[in-house]
Amino acid sequence: MSESRAWEDVDDYFITHLSPNDEPLEAALRDSDAAELPPVNVTANQGKFLQLLAQIQGARRILEIGTLGGYSTIWLARALPADGRLISLEYSARHAEVACRNIARAGLDTLVEVRVGPALESLPKLTDENPEPFDLVFIDADKANNPHYVEWALRLTRAGSLIIIDNVVRGGRVADADSTEPDIRGTRAAIELIAAHPRLTGTAIQTVGSKGYDGFALARVLD
Ligand code: SAH
Ligand code: DHB
Ligand code: MG
Repeated sequence: MSESRAWEDVDDYFITHLSPNDEPLEAALRDSDAAELPPVNVTANQGKFLQLLAQIQGARRILEIGTLGGYSTIWLARALPADGRLISLEYSARHAEVACRNIARAGLDTLVEVRVGPALESLPKLTDENPEPFDLVFIDADKANNPHYVEWALRLTRAGSLIIIDNVVRGGRVADADSTEPDIRGTRAAIELIAAHPRLTGTAIQTVGSKGYDGFALARVLD
């Protein structure tokens, strides 16, 4: 059995037992596929991992950067209390439209707001609104801007908040200091920012699975 086939079988096994997609999640994937959105959503066990982190965090307010069809959004929003709030930023109006339908079908439209536009334009507007700090920020958009997203996350959070970055390994390419790929350079800059920043402490974990070899970075905001 090839290694990546084993990764898929193990994901299937874990997902079947621990985090099967229910009808709203299945429908979200089906409609995202029908609308030809790229199939780069988190897997079901990763979605459940994000949901557990939000619950451990006691998150009442969540910020997501990169909505796609709202699949990760649904997992995260399900961790919220009835008076919670999730704001998700998405560049593509087409992706946001699919996401909003998926989120509404999951019964989460009262908790979730999707804002359309480049996140680097939405984030300053969000700061101007002077919102209550976010308890958790999930960064999963254009990886070249990852260091900027970490900076904005710091402005929009509090001591004890959790910042999560998806796709920090990319088949191992993150270890290439000479990479000219904007995504890799952005991710390396974000990792090095977390390392150097006096108000952040973090780590990163490699993962394998049906989406291949990748990983998450986690950072906690300090006083
Ligand atoms: N979080 C989703 C996957 C997000 S894929 C999930 O796991 O289900 C990345 C998304 O980021 C895409 O929908 C893409 O359109 C969006 N994106 C890319 N550049 C962006 C930008 N500058 N601002 C906001 N969103 C952006
Ligand atoms: C890509 C984006 C993602 O958010 C992801 O989880 C995997 C891949 C991509 O753009 O290739
Ligand atoms: Mg991702």
